[in-house]
Amino acid sequence: KRIAIFISGTGSNMEALLDACEEDGYPALPVLVLANKASAGGIEKAKARGIATSIVDHKTFGKDREAFERAIQAELEKHNVEFIALAGFMRVLTPWFIEKWEGKMINIHPSLLPSFPGLHTHQRAIDAKCRLAGCSVHFVTAGVDEGPIIGQAAVPIFPDDTAETLASRILITEHKLYPACLEAVLLGEDQTSYVQMNDDPDAP
Ligand code: GRF
Repeated sequence: KRIAIFISGTGSNMEALLDACEEDGYPALPVLVLANKASAGGIEKAKARGIATSIVDHKTFGKDREAFERAIQAELEKHNVEFIALAGFMRVLTPWFIEKWEGKMINIHPSLLPSFPGLHTHQRAIDAKCRLAGCSVHFVTAGVDEGPIIGQAAVPIFPDDTAETLASRILITEHKLYPACLEAVLLGEDQTSYVQMNDDPDAP
């Protein structure tokens, strides 16, 4: 499947997906990395790997979200993209765009959904005195962070954790969960066989 990866920042999840795509038999071909800002660190990483990149800066479209999304859609059609993986993409997409891609667009969120949708998930989990945190890969639907869950990985919270130490521990697990979930979806596995990980953060 010809996939596009959307980023806004460092793109560490993008890198994990691109690594997986290089494995024999992995069912995804990365044909585009798209960012909503030129400063996204992941763009240089994608270029270094010879992946086509595109910057569609939401700021140039002001309040017109649909115009921004039509520009994105044009890029996707130019590259004959068949599937979208959001990876640290920080723009909310409108129902117009989501309807076009429902079932063919997934996202990774750094919490065990439905707990802690939205931002600052690690601090909120610590503040709530949770014992487990983690990450979720889900289909993107009109509601933010609430589409059908494809896979999840649980990561322990330690007493001395800060949002930063917890985030970096979960990120390691995200990089394992996301490629596994993308593969499961592209192989068309039914929902029951989707991915469940209880990661030992100190595992190699
Ligand atoms: C990750 O925690 C991801 O779950 C969230 O954005 C963070 C940064 O991801 N969506 P990346 O390093 O840009 O892939």
